[in-house]
Amino acid sequence: MNWSRSTCSTQWVTPHSRPSRLRSARQSADRLIAYGWFMAYAPESAQEVSTRLRATGYLPDEGLSTITYLALAMQRPLLLEGEPGTGKTALAEALATLLDAPLIRLQCYEGIDASQALYDWDFPRQILHLRAVEATSQATHGVDTEALEASLFADRFLLDRPILRALREQNAVLLIDEIDRADDEFEAFLLEVLSTNQVTIPEYGVVRAEKPPVVVLTSNRTRELHDALKRRCLYHWIEHPGLAREVEIVRSRLPEVSQRLAEQVARAVQRMRASGDLLKPPGVAETLDWARALHQLGRDHLDLETASATLGAVLKYREDADRVRDALDLILAG
Ligand SMILES: Nc1ncnc2c1ncn2[C@@H]1O[C@H](COP(=O)(O)OP(=O)(O)O)[C@@H](O)[C@H]1O
Ligand SMILES: [Mg+2]
Repeated sequence: MNWSRSTCSTQWVTPHSRPSRLRSARQSADRLIAYGWFMAYAPESAQEVSTRLRATGYLPDEGLSTITYLALAMQRPLLLEGEPGTGKTALAEALATLLDAPLIRLQCYEGIDASQALYDWDFPRQILHLRAVEATSQATHGVDTEALEASLFADRFLLDRPILRALREQNAVLLIDEIDRADDEFEAFLLEVLSTNQVTIPEYGVVRAEKPPVVVLTSNRTRELHDALKRRCLYHWIEHPGLAREVEIVRSRLPEVSQRLAEQVARAVQRMRASGDLLKPPGVAETLDWARALHQLGRDHLDLETASATLGAVLKYREDADRVRDALDLILAG
């Protein structure tokens, strides 16, 4: 096993220990701030990744542990696509746990832009600073405009957003969640960051991570992502788990649920999915919710009446619930 934590020799320059050569270039956009990554992730095999993920409570299949191993070993972003509730977000969380790294999450949505993903300037504090300088300068002798402008774009006014934080952290997992919700332009911007592992802040400089962060992108495939972004990443489509693994997931996440109940719930959900005519087939999240709800009601097995009364934990469309209720005896049949 070789999850070596190597001390990176990269010279990294924080805004607090900036050499004077760089300090003199403070106002120019070509200042370069390199942040070292102090961990080298070097799992020895896909099997080792699988074992370690399992130890966190996440149960991957062989394909997923192999691609995760490769993403870590080759230091490439991992793009996970699949139906909602198939464990995409949870994989990033499990990775952060096994790497003992903070998880930095960027939840994408329509209209998201660089100021929410990357950085922003703390405008109210900049104004306060400006007023304070003005007040003092009236009592003394005038303002050095250039110095004042530079002081407005100091580190303390820079608001880190997830991507910048991930580049500056020395050890982090960056989760870019549900990228398919963002617009095309945001995807292009992201591609640039992922390709270069650096960002340019015009008033401040270039911030660069010397070694790439562990990046996981997820998509529910509500739209196709661009080939260029896909090319940058290693790709994996997460399928719904098979019956045995779904039972195992329920038992792992909800040890208080009996084996019998876990099996009945997972089997029923698998049949609902297989029917192919639901508007929103349930994911693992719904299987867990259903099992949790039944346990809450003190049940240790699933009968027709209770199943019918608790369908709202697993199906979220009236049409789906009606359809399943009509065939509930077949769905629950041993
Ligand atoms: N392979 C798995 N092992 C353990 N838990 C899983 C697995 N797949 C899904 N889950 C659980 O199912 C739920 C939904 O997963 P989530 O990651 O939110 O799905 P997605 O991001 O794909 O919509 C979470 O509670 C997660 O922990
Ligand atoms: Mg998710």
